Amino acid sequence: MKTRRNSRMTMLITIVSVILLASACDDGRIYEETYTPGMEGRVMKLTGIVNGQDTWPKGYSLVMAGFEEGSNYALITKSLPVPDVGTGRVEAVMSGIGSEVTSVELCVVNRLRERVVSFVSRDCAAGAGDTIMVDAGEVNVGMFNAIQRQVFDKSCTACHGLATSDAASLNLLEGKSYDALLNVPSTVLDGKMRVEAGNAEESTLYLILGTTLSTDWGVDHSQMLTSAELVSLVEDWIDNGAEK
Ligand code: HEC
Repeated sequence: MKTRRNSRMTMLITIVSVILLASACDDGRIYEETYTPGMEGRVMKLTGIVNGQDTWPKGYSLVMAGFEEGSNYALITKSLPVPDVGTGRVEAVMSGIGSEVTSVELCVVNRLRERVVSFVSRDCAAGAGDTIMVDAGEVNVGMFNAIQRQVFDKSCTACHGLATSDAASLNLLEGKSYDALLNVPSTVLDGKMRVEAGNAEESTLYLILGTTLSTDWGVDHSQMLTSAELVSLVEDWIDNGAEK
């Protein structure tokens, strides 16, 4: 009995420390100097023009991050400074990148430092030099753009946009998707919108991805997104106002 209680305590402590650790790098502060676990390691220098950073709600952080191959959990992260007002220009440095890091990215992570979406990624196998220069170019890191790229472009446009006729008359191609979703009455579910800003539970877009509602439609949408983070991304986007 005693050992079981002990192991439960250990687990609790582990969970609490993971949460503390995760929130420690999510405090929104801008560090003048780099966030470093140690002085050793490589350095990532990021430059670019970044738009849409402020569309992410609490719980998500836009960061520079280092990952080990095969893992979605960042080994090291650093919050991106607020871009220059007007130009959107960003210059940032992250140091202390250990040898186990095989890619550095500009990405959004959740509270557990798990990658939700990656905007820019560079391979950096150990030995590639001490400084990893990353020019991100001009990049839209907005939440809706993340959904467009990670969800619609990858899993939906074959039927909604690229086919000769759009399924449910819904076009999810870039540039068309937002207007086809926001406050547009559903053609399938009476009384609901495709996306009702602020209310995922009443939006067909979320309902068919996050629940089994569409199983008898011939096309079961609940099986389309293999990652729960992407379903949460859609839900959080709608609940936080469904901005572009
Ligand atoms: C294999 C084809 C196919 C794919 C892929 C597909 N859909 Fe659909 N979708 C359909 C069909 C068919 C309907 C209409 C079902 C009906 O009318 O009963 C539909 C309906 C919908 C609706 C309801 C529209 C409304 O007016 O309420 C939404 C929202 C939707 N799909 C979103 C998506 C999203 C998001 C994806 C990608 C994750 C996706 N679909 C992928 C075929 C597809």
